Amino acid sequence: MTQTLTLRRPDDWHLHLRDGDMLRAVLPHTAAHFARAIIMPNLVPPVVRGADAAAYRDRILAALPEGSDFTPLMTLYLTEDTEPDDVAAAHASGLITAVKLYPAGATTNSASGVSNFDKVAPVLDRMADIGLPLCTHGEVTDPEVDIFDREAVFIDRVMDPLRKRHAGLKVVMEHITTSDAVAYVRSAGANLGATITTHHLVINRNHILAGGIKPHYYCLPVAKRETHRLALRAAATSGDARFFLGTDSAPHTDANKLLPCGCAGCFTAPNTMSILAEIFEQDGALKHLEAFTSLNGPAFYGLPVNEDTLTLTRTSAAYPDHIDTPEGPVTVFDPMMPLNWSVSRD
Ligand code: NCD
Ligand code: ZN
Repeated sequence: MTQTLTLRRPDDWHLHLRDGDMLRAVLPHTAAHFARAIIMPNLVPPVVRGADAAAYRDRILAALPEGSDFTPLMTLYLTEDTEPDDVAAAHASGLITAVKLYPAGATTNSASGVSNFDKVAPVLDRMADIGLPLCTHGEVTDPEVDIFDREAVFIDRVMDPLRKRHAGLKVVMEHITTSDAVAYVRSAGANLGATITTHHLVINRNHILAGGIKPHYYCLPVAKRETHRLALRAAATSGDARFFLGTDSAPHTDANKLLPCGCAGCFTAPNTMSILAEIFEQDGALKHLEAFTSLNGPAFYGLPVNEDTLTLTRTSAAYPDHIDTPEGPVTVFDPMMPLNWSVSRD
């Protein structure tokens, strides 16, 4: 039986750090294990222009624990007014790694997102020219479409036409939750990748809704039925280079989760690596864990893999059920299983 597993240090290709006190409280949990993370721009107001991303990056770097070598990979929030020149300049200077598409109204702080895709065609063409990837929140916002179908409908109505119109654009389907998305990514070429979260490998929709409503398992895209979870597990553990980790760790205070209209998001930064080791072991795929957490993402983004390593040791791992922040407690995602791999930096 394997007792220790040393991996290239992992990266998180989809992360919410927020700002201010919350940023300072959650960032150390990611920086403890991950070398880099793609930082989501859905602040209030959103990170829209290069100058916004530069200022946010400085606030993140200032919030890092002493001696941390964590690198935030910044993104811009695509709006219908985004200027191709501003995006290209931010990319050329090395400031940004991707641009994020939120369909307007799809999720937390997405009101300034895109409704009319014609308006963003020039910037998407420019991104294809310069090799700058587009990260996508893949859900339609049409109120007529059932929330459990919004990802599959997005693929047909938006993703496939967008990729045909902007051939050559690198696209990441983020936090995929369906077998439809897995199949779509498998059918596409190397320009399409997908991130998978830790929590979507663990929960299905029963965990949110059966036996009482569980707000801490509510996130967007919402977890789907078990067949979809199994398809995500198969994709993540397969070693296929098009699938990589994006935790979508999305902290909200308990006060904001436990409301008649509570916020969407699971906070998985502290225990993600232990949970993933457990999952990959359960599926007999520990040999593919490093590909999912540390190799496939850099390859897709054209970045070097990390030189340093992280070691997982087969010994019971314990995590707090919440972290305290000046804004109030934030519940840590409960994987509902013992964790038998603990994590240490080398
Ligand atoms: C995210 C958040 O809270 O910012 N919530 C979530 O459920 N994942 C937004 C997002 O990524 O959709
Ligand atoms: Zn997210």
